[in-house]
Amino acid sequence: MTISQDPSAPLVVLVGITGLQGGSVARALIDSDKPYRIRGLTRDANKPAARTFAAQGVQIVSVSLTVDNAANVRKAFDGADIAFAVTNFNEHMDKQREISEGKMLVDTAKAAGVKLFIWSGLESLSALSGGKFSRVGFFDAKREVTEYAKDSGVPTSVVEAGYYATNIFEAPYALKKQPDGSYVFGMPVPANTQVPVIDVAHDYGLYVRAAIENPALGPGSEVLSGKLISFGELVETLSQVSVKKITYLELDREAFIEATGMPDYGPMLSDMFEAFAIHGYYGGKAIAAESLLPRKPRSWSDFLAATPVQDFFH
Ligand SMILES: NC(=O)c1ccc[n+]([C@@H]2O[C@H](COP(=O)([O-])OP(=O)(O)OC[C@H]3O[C@@H](n4cnc5c(N)ncnc54)[C@H](OP(=O)(O)O)[C@@H]3O)[C@@H](O)[C@H]2O)c1
Repeated sequence: MTISQDPSAPLVVLVGITGLQGGSVARALIDSDKPYRIRGLTRDANKPAARTFAAQGVQIVSVSLTVDNAANVRKAFDGADIAFAVTNFNEHMDKQREISEGKMLVDTAKAAGVKLFIWSGLESLSALSGGKFSRVGFFDAKREVTEYAKDSGVPTSVVEAGYYATNIFEAPYALKKQPDGSYVFGMPVPANTQVPVIDVAHDYGLYVRAAIENPALGPGSEVLSGKLISFGELVETLSQVSVKKITYLELDREAFIEATGMPDYGPMLSDMFEAFAIHGYYGGKAIAAESLLPRKPRSWSDFLAATPVQDFFH
């Protein structure tokens, strides 16, 4: 409803506004009845998502958020009252780079004097498992940045993103078509393994907005998103909605890695799922109650109802 240009409205700087998380945060703040000035950062102001937000009154600033560009990153954060930051491991798959860029964003927010720094963190699966599942760099890196932010003294709220609902369709290990036309969903964990599923584009921003607006959250809070559902239930509901026969198949680790077709990446994926099965996606910490949010997030069934699922079956 409100993107303000009034200097008295808090200025929120959003990293990743053209992406799933940052875009969701922008939409949630635009929906708020509280006034915000919004500045969205991107490397390419001509992207359709950047243009759409600009047309709504968002100030779009072009900047690359790399460590060697720190001086320009600082300018992009100038005057911020609140900052939201996410790093995109998927673009480079480099744990140390994700840590360095995350820490730079913490330092930048601190130098800008923000009253609230919201960090899209995750848990360390390595720490939760006592080092057993140590290959999941994008979880461990985000936790390291969380610790750094907390130690830095910048008022921080960590809003952790759940397991994207879209992963079920996009991940190369999922949904393998069988010669008889049915599908197998093969995973290295039991069917009762739960993940906190979230329709990230639709709902992640609700949790960030709650971290900003709900007095029960704010600085010092850890806000965990999504709704817990087991892989078995995920597959059963998908089977019903798509009217396709889909069987959940528990694979042993080696068979799963082979099925991914990615000898380098498969062991990391298996570590991740095995850690979820034993320790939980959030290490057993509680997900934020829906009553804290400005509206109800989508369940897996809601997500499927809003998605052209047939498009994903090949
Ligand atoms: N898949 C899951 O289930 C899951 C769950 C929890 C967390 N995550 C994490 O989510 C993160 C990705 O977030 P997302 O889904 O929102 O990603 P996304 O949709 O791919 O968007 C990435 C955003 O980051 C921006 N960006 C990346 N590098 C940049 C740079 N050097 N300078 C400026 N902006 C940059 C991009 O901006 P421009 O391209 O416009 O410059 C874009 O807006 C990953 O780190 C992943 O580990 C994923």
